[in-house]
Amino acid sequence: MCGIVGYAGARQAPPLLMEGLKRLEYRGYDSAGLAVVNGGAIVRKRAQGKLTNLESLLKKEPMTGFVALGHTRWATHGKPSEENAHPHADCSGELVVIHNGIIENYLEIKERLRGHEFQSETDTEVVAHLIEEKLKGLLPPGGSKPGFNEPLLFEATRLALKEVKGAYALAVLWSKAPGVIIAAKTASPLIIGLGNGENFLASDVPAFLAHTRKAVFLEDGEMAVLKAGDCAFFNLDGRRLTKVPTQIQWDRTMAEKGGYRHFMLKEIYEQPASCEDSMRGRFFPLKDGVLEREAGLSGETLKKVKRIYMVACGTAYHACLIAKYWLENVAKIPVAVEIASEFRYRETLVGPDDLVISVSQSGETADTLAAVRLAKEKGAKVLSVCNTLGAAIPRAADFNLYTHCGPEFGVASTKAFIGQLATLAIFTLHCAVTRGARTEHEARPWVDQLVKIPGDIRTVLKLDPQIKEIAKSFVKKNHFLFIGRNVNYAIALEGALKLKEISYIHAEGYAAGELKHGPIALIDENMPVVAIATRSQTRDKMVSSFEEVRARGAQLIVLATEGDPKLAGANHTLLVPAVPELLSPIVNIIPLQLLAYHIADLRGCDVDQPRNLAKSVTVE
Ligand code: AGP
Repeated sequence: MCGIVGYAGARQAPPLLMEGLKRLEYRGYDSAGLAVVNGGAIVRKRAQGKLTNLESLLKKEPMTGFVALGHTRWATHGKPSEENAHPHADCSGELVVIHNGIIENYLEIKERLRGHEFQSETDTEVVAHLIEEKLKGLLPPGGSKPGFNEPLLFEATRLALKEVKGAYALAVLWSKAPGVIIAAKTASPLIIGLGNGENFLASDVPAFLAHTRKAVFLEDGEMAVLKAGDCAFFNLDGRRLTKVPTQIQWDRTMAEKGGYRHFMLKEIYEQPASCEDSMRGRFFPLKDGVLEREAGLSGETLKKVKRIYMVACGTAYHACLIAKYWLENVAKIPVAVEIASEFRYRETLVGPDDLVISVSQSGETADTLAAVRLAKEKGAKVLSVCNTLGAAIPRAADFNLYTHCGPEFGVASTKAFIGQLATLAIFTLHCAVTRGARTEHEARPWVDQLVKIPGDIRTVLKLDPQIKEIAKSFVKKNHFLFIGRNVNYAIALEGALKLKEISYIHAEGYAAGELKHGPIALIDENMPVVAIATRSQTRDKMVSSFEEVRARGAQLIVLATEGDPKLAGANHTLLVPAVPELLSPIVNIIPLQLLAYHIADLRGCDVDQPRNLAKSVTVE
């Protein structure tokens, strides 16, 4: 998964694109590059590693020009290296391509491009050479002529893409058509920013938000011809399209760190707002309300649903595990929760009587998108819960209920998780009332409790200094066990995922009742255990699990509810406000996010961009 940017306008392009790439670095950061048209030729600079390496290069060797492309990479084909960094050029070096996605038939195309010399191991470079080949077939005998070259470049790109299979958001620059960028999109995100006398393209809105709020989200199979003062849209058959721009509401500070050390910490602190914003205006009317009004999911359709499947990956999957307890308890509907990468490859019984709910922050996760497509092939209706407007999954779904968290830059998902839980809680309420499992009157206490949750999150955030202190005792640990029960078993899983993915400490989440079936063999003084022992119907069972691990010397961090009997023997106790058990995961995850953050930060880990990870896994 990579980040692409482009600019055509009257200002110097390189600094604008470097600024844009910085806002896309979360999409991948193992190499980066820029290409600009200057003096009738393409100038290309690339560097392996973080964007700062390219920045240093440009300080030594400045680039100037008004039309340019930029790219930050997360390797899929070919190791992270300068020669594999985008932009990639054709044989002439005068045509370059940047790309996010995977060209599935690149080897087959490469085979056919006899005589072409390839400089990299990437699939992208093949597209540059394929376009070069198409241009040869289109150029008049006298060779390219100024003024005719733009349509030629468009046509050559269009013909080349007709032969390409796979996912791409790509842009093409040719020194012989200096004023134009050709862009195209299938399966990977590509957004056009329309400015005054200048136009931008990017994988994500924050890349150009400082310059324009007017955006066009390209759909699969669409192309754009970008110039300084004009942008035209076409489909892959060359037919002209009319695209309606979207006015982006995000302000710039949402895309900045806002004074926090890391995006992740900023986003942890944004969680009260993410929770509020994802519920705002969605409670009433409980019947034929937000699901009909916003998601397009009618009460009629919802009443016919026999079963719900939920498909997601990682943190989003943990949100589904929690929503299962809610939907089965409150809406009395059976729910099957599936890891998307498993669901898509097994013989599933999903069918026309089922509603499939996909949960995804990025809306571009390949496995979740494939699971959605499979569900639709089987005749099921799909509701997408997503944080990214215009992303592939919401566009593939039948109904959409967006989380309203704003951009999440930290690779470790935090506020998006809270937004997912808040949105799924809203869905649960409407589902229960629409299907008659609860009356509006019976649903009212749920509403009252949910409205209080953002305040409870604010209260728990005050534990931050205590958690930072606790973290100091665990910086050198190599293993962690998180245990929870019932609806907080998923929080044990999520707490473990947070810790492992940013601190690189091996951590496991376990159902506390499973300890005796194996994991208790791991317990000794070197195995810290985080026990989620907040107020619940199974708290006494949790206390037994707590005693079992304490007796074997574990260092214990306990999450407990204010006012409950103290668990003597805990090395550290974190007190959270009393909330109904079913809603407690929304509050209980906060201390575990902070614990993971501080341990990772104290270990000197790159909290926002952990090794080997990218913000959205758009490849299998
Ligand atoms: C979460 O902290 C992880 N970075 C990862 O598990 C993530 O939740 C998963 O890749 C799903 O991403 P999505 O929500 O964008 O689909």
